[in-house]
Amino acid sequence: MKIGICSDHAGVEYKAKLIKYMERRGIEVVNFGTDTTESMDYPDVAHPLGYALEKGDVDLGVALCGTGNGMAITLNHHKGVRAGLAWNVEVGKLVKEHNNANVLVMPARFISYRMACAILRAWLETEFAGGRHLRRIEKIPVQQ
Ligand code: RB5
Repeated sequence: MKIGICSDHAGVEYKAKLIKYMERRGIEVVNFGTDTTESMDYPDVAHPLGYALEKGDVDLGVALCGTGNGMAITLNHHKGVRAGLAWNVEVGKLVKEHNNANVLVMPARFISYRMACAILRAWLETEFAGGRHLRRIEKIPVQQ
């Protein structure tokens, strides 16, 4: 499994630690930046991750910014991307079980690193439930 990860300056410290955490678990990680604490614009890293998901270059994504909202709003413009925001372990499970989120988004300024790690673990270990939830996510794309 290959996971793409991105953050803005607000999430860069957690991103660096989460990359190491995933690599220790044998997951191949592709880092889309940013890699400094200098203020930057989250779409500049979210879009490259979104295109990589569209092309199948990565299987899943993880994104962090201050609130998580900028990353989620940007990534959800990409075809086939379901970026879901999670701020605790229960929501981290449900965003996979019910929404089949293929990108986990976390609000780095509002959770501890320990929590971010626990949410990531929960999301990775949870399976999509299918059934009525599949029917619901199939209704999400806007018909052109
Ligand atoms: C950066 O200050 C902040 O706006 C950003 O990290 C994020 O919260 C945007 O949604």
